[in-house]
Amino acid sequence: MKRIAHYSPPALLLGSGIYKELPEQIAGLGCSKPFIITDPGIERAGILQKVLDVLEEAGIKPGFFAEVEPEPPLELTEKVAHEVKEGQWDLLIGLGGGSSIDVTKVAALLARNRGSAKSFVGVNKAPEPGLPTIMMPTTAGTGSEVTSIAIFGITDEGGVKKGIVSPHMLASVAMIDPSFTLSMPPRVTAVTGMDALVHAIESYVSRGFNAFTEDLSLSAIRLISRYLRKAVADGEDETSRYYMSLASLKAGLAFANAGLGAVHGLSLTLGGRYHLPHGLVNSLMLPYVMEVNLMSELEKYADIAEALGEPIEHLSLREGAERSIHAVLTLIRDIGLPTRLREVNVPEDDAATMAKSAINETRLLSKNPRQLSIEDIESIYKNAW
Ligand SMILES: [Fe+2]
Repeated sequence: MKRIAHYSPPALLLGSGIYKELPEQIAGLGCSKPFIITDPGIERAGILQKVLDVLEEAGIKPGFFAEVEPEPPLELTEKVAHEVKEGQWDLLIGLGGGSSIDVTKVAALLARNRGSAKSFVGVNKAPEPGLPTIMMPTTAGTGSEVTSIAIFGITDEGGVKKGIVSPHMLASVAMIDPSFTLSMPPRVTAVTGMDALVHAIESYVSRGFNAFTEDLSLSAIRLISRYLRKAVADGEDETSRYYMSLASLKAGLAFANAGLGAVHGLSLTLGGRYHLPHGLVNSLMLPYVMEVNLMSELEKYADIAEALGEPIEHLSLREGAERSIHAVLTLIRDIGLPTRLREVNVPEDDAATMAKSAINETRLLSKNPRQLSIEDIESIYKNAW
């Protein structure tokens, strides 16, 4: 049997109102000068103010940067790291969606390592640990609060998305407060929730899976199947927000250790070229990658169908596995997302060019259960059109 090695932030806290424990967590890390990194939407929603208030009550005066835009360029991390060093802040708090959390990871790394942000693109390029970090997600999907990877568009390479992967970017504490996700509009809930589903499905069938990540992945699929529609239909429903936060955490822990696959591999190129949100492109690619992968893992896709609520006991293995694709498409339609690339204005004749770029995503494609050629990738993009 396979060996299990599981890496995650040393402390995972999840609960409504858990943000009020922030001062204790900061003190527990031996820090006193936190700097918060967030975005204008979180400031407008009043979430930043809640965090500032709880710190002020504890006598802590934090600094903050509230200008992270969606899909930020890598250069932004250098600007933030410069402010952090100037102010001699000793701990970074990433408050927001995947973008704010990813900026926080890299800024923390830059604050303690020499070199440009671009010099850390790739795997294990930073020799020194970064500043301690506390991650507080305000969406339920990216799982970024528990992973050691940050994804950025590289401006001088035509916006192509690349990853910085370093164990030094693992958070010191992940504080997941489902009440912060109550303000997410239905579309963002749907898109980020589908990102979590893709993490769960891709980690389940990944070549890097182990018996521990399998449980996390399947459990996340069940929770998303049960609660994502409800969270989209009624954003104020605290139960579905709680379980979507938990599902996102489990899926994040699963993929951080098992790896992902071709959905993310093909989405990075697509999202970078057409500036489409990460969760949306993942959702668009998912059914078509599943179609191609299906024959390599029939049992696992049948498990996925079952976890998605499909009655498969009277079906053949092959038919049961196919129900997983049906279930995913039904979910995507229910929550109002597109299922075709043409619906988001991607031109059909770009498939070959995109395939040439996507084939280089070896970090992701090497974990896909089926080996894909450049022709396979091109036909997946075409099928998705
Ligand atoms: Fe993702």
